[in-house]
Amino acid sequence: KKTPLIAPSLLAANFLEIGKDVNMINNSEADWLHLDVMDGRFVPNISFGLPVIAAVTKISTKVNDVHLMIEEPEKYAEAFAKAGANILTVHIEACRHLHRNIQQIKGLGMKAGVALNPHTSVSQLENIIADLDLVLVMSVNPGFGGQHFIEKTYEKIRQVKALINQSGSKALIEVDGGVTLDNSKAVIAAGADVLVAGNTVFSAKDPVEMIRALKHNS
Ligand code: DX5
Ligand code: ZN
Repeated sequence: KKTPLIAPSLLAANFLEIGKDVNMINNSEADWLHLDVMDGRFVPNISFGLPVIAAVTKISTKVNDVHLMIEEPEKYAEAFAKAGANILTVHIEACRHLHRNIQQIKGLGMKAGVALNPHTSVSQLENIIADLDLVLVMSVNPGFGGQHFIEKTYEKIRQVKALINQSGSKALIEVDGGVTLDNSKAVIAAGADVLVAGNTVFSAKDPVEMIRALKHNS
């Protein structure tokens, strides 16, 4: 039995009363607060950015897990550190100098993560895995909440797990997109350490109970 870390995604919150939802997460068994930043270029959607994250991290008592779905993330890493990010994850598809970007993030005092789109091969992590704190496996195409989990992801999670084991890396595996109470067991069994959940948490009748259920379901 393995207890995963739970990272509710604020993308599915009620933005008119965002503080209420952050406090709900604060008062739950959630471990991380997942914050999705979209620029309308790397992904076909725009979410929220630095001022919102700076406000949210002021009241958040959880680990602030910032998922950058943006081009040229190196231009903004320092600003996200100042805005209170504890973990900064960049997309491998958006980084021409990934090794430099990871060193930059760590140099700013944050944990460093790399995200893989559904089509991106795990083998692309071979030369960077030892430097990573987190691998974020996208189980939907990034850009929107509420999408359906792509089944091929199970195999990718197993591949990332194998790569971590053979390299001696201490990276955690986070799975993001379409995670439900029904598939969470299989996601964890495949090797996930951290579950992101947007719609599953925020469309639940009792979000605090749903977070508890996701955490203790395996
Ligand atoms: C999608 C984001 C996800 C999203 C997940 O691009 O990276 O974090 O909020 O939402 P659900 O859990 O509803 O698929
Ligand atoms: Zn995300």
